[in-house]
Amino acid sequence: MAETIPDLRNVPKGRAYAELKGHSDAILEGIDDDIAAMSTIAALVHHALGHLWTGFYRVVVPGQLLRVGPYQGSLGCLDIAFGRGVCGTAAAEKKTVIVPDVEKYPGHITCDARSRSEIVVPVLDSRGDLIAVLDVDSDRLNAFNAEDQQGLERLVSWFSTIRQ
Ligand code: SME
Repeated sequence: MAETIPDLRNVPKGRAYAELKGHSDAILEGIDDDIAAMSTIAALVHHALGHLWTGFYRVVVPGQLLRVGPYQGSLGCLDIAFGRGVCGTAAAEKKTVIVPDVEKYPGHITCDARSRSEIVVPVLDSRGDLIAVLDVDSDRLNAFNAEDQQGLERLVSWFSTIRQ
């Protein structure tokens, strides 16, 4: 495999995410394995964009429980109940949540005290069922906006096109 992870920290977000989607699709060509895809997407996003924590929480009990999956960064909390914290809220509502300042988000779950802002994107299969959420944390305030939402949602759309 010849793909390497580009440094996109100083590239405009729209272009950066388009490039990441190209890398991700090239690497995952012919692959039908969620864990391989989650590992690949977490590594690409984390290192290309220089985040604090990037990874997946998988649905292990539908409607009730998320458990940490492939990730990059410091140790993540293992289990998160639906409705708890940012991840549990995004899971319960099946909607992306952007938190500009984690200290102002009631119920935020602190896994790494350096985290200042975050975005959590739902991951759906081809039936529209939730299989995971993608959580990205930054050590900077207000690091995420609609461009991150669009770029990350597009990256995880892989799971809705491949999974049956
Ligand atoms: N902050 C998240 C928990 C996951 S970690 O940040 C890796 C939350 O409130 O759901």
